[in-house]
Amino acid sequence: MIFRALEFDQLEHQSYSVMTCCSHLFTKKGSFSATRFTGIDIDISEIQNVNFYTYKELRVATKGFSLANKIGQGGFGSVYKGKLRNGSLAAIKVLSAQSRQGVREFLTEIKAITSIDHENLVQLYGCCVEENHRILVYGYLENNSLAQTLLGGGHSSIQFSWIVRRNICIGIARGLAFLHEEVRPHIIHRDIKASNVLLDNDLQPKISDFGLAKFISPNLTHISTCVAGTAGYLAPEYAIRSRVTRKSDIYSFGVLLLEIVSGRPNTNRRLPAEEQYLLTRAWNLYEKGELESLVDSFLDGDVNVEESIKFCKIGLVCTQDSPQLRPHMSTVLKMLNGEKDVNVKNLTKPSMIFEFLEAIDEEKQKGKAEITNTSMFTDSRKLDDSSSGTDTSFATMTFTSIYDRSN
Ligand SMILES: Nc1ncnc2c1ncn2[C@@H]1O[C@H](COP(=O)(O)OP(=O)(O)O)[C@@H](O)[C@H]1O
Ligand SMILES: [Mg+2]
Repeated sequence: MIFRALEFDQLEHQSYSVMTCCSHLFTKKGSFSATRFTGIDIDISEIQNVNFYTYKELRVATKGFSLANKIGQGGFGSVYKGKLRNGSLAAIKVLSAQSRQGVREFLTEIKAITSIDHENLVQLYGCCVEENHRILVYGYLENNSLAQTLLGGGHSSIQFSWIVRRNICIGIARGLAFLHEEVRPHIIHRDIKASNVLLDNDLQPKISDFGLAKFISPNLTHISTCVAGTAGYLAPEYAIRSRVTRKSDIYSFGVLLLEIVSGRPNTNRRLPAEEQYLLTRAWNLYEKGELESLVDSFLDGDVNVEESIKFCKIGLVCTQDSPQLRPHMSTVLKMLNGEKDVNVKNLTKPSMIFEFLEAIDEEKQKGKAEITNTSMFTDSRKLDDSSSGTDTSFATMTFTSIYDRSN
């Protein structure tokens, strides 16, 4: 069996990791043990500079992974708050034992963030690889995710003033510009969304969840890969043709920007039909010259109107149908902080894939969700095998093979 272990290798060295049924996995820094884990065996021997925690320490830190300490749930598994032996608070992310895709995400996440350090990216303290346990340990962020607080239906006590929102948008843009343009090889996050932006005590945003990240070396224009991500944030060229570039992150960022300014999620089926999709609504209001109505009424007039409209326009600039028309992240950052004007002279309509998403929903309702995920991962390996060239041919992906991580 041949599996590709780490995206970095795929792209930089075009090499494969040949696996056997018994893989070699770290138990502690520098030593190996032969371990079999959930059917995917990957050599992580090249992952360095990672702290390894014992399972016992993490069990103690989370009071036995108690429900009371559970702070989040994602596609990967559960996340618990815990106090480490050195006294620092940590978010401890436990890969669910059955998760095949999770093992890949686990490795990707370690590889992606151990080597980078930025104030707008979460900090990985280390991990635990012991018997069947796969656990990631992060710095704990007091104010959880934007999905839980800003978009969480009023259950948060945080006052998201305009200044706070502005600062959050700029911070996310900084983190993303760093990943896209400063880190070598560049990193495409692939899952930018409200639940993957965490807030610290001072409401500074930190991009988290690098489980789907892809490394892209400067000479590559795109990667052809399996489609993974979260429905409402997926760029159409990526969703339909499995073609991922940094511009697909820009699209997701544009959606997120509109969510932050409007204080509502990208899709809300409880609203009247014409308001259900944030992008459609934003475009309609833009055409009528009424973007101000998109700004969160919760701000109750306490907002820099001109700037909030500008942010909405930047959201629309980022979600244009053609990836070429979307700006690079450093340009977006300049627009947000006022160093560059936002040019909407030739602004084109955002592309929206909700018709296809409705088709997925119908499938889910018919109970095909499990089949969908399985087929996606079969596809993913096939597609990944052709990911390293610029002249790759693309498999036509149907929406039944999207891996939806909408948690
Ligand atoms: N460092 C952290 N501090 C506080 N809460 C966190 C932290 N990391 C994750 N969480 C919570 O757990 C949720 C899931 O974490 P995430 O890393 O996105 O996992 P998944 O890969 O399963 O989506 C987040 O949306 C957030 O609510
Ligand atoms: Mg997540």
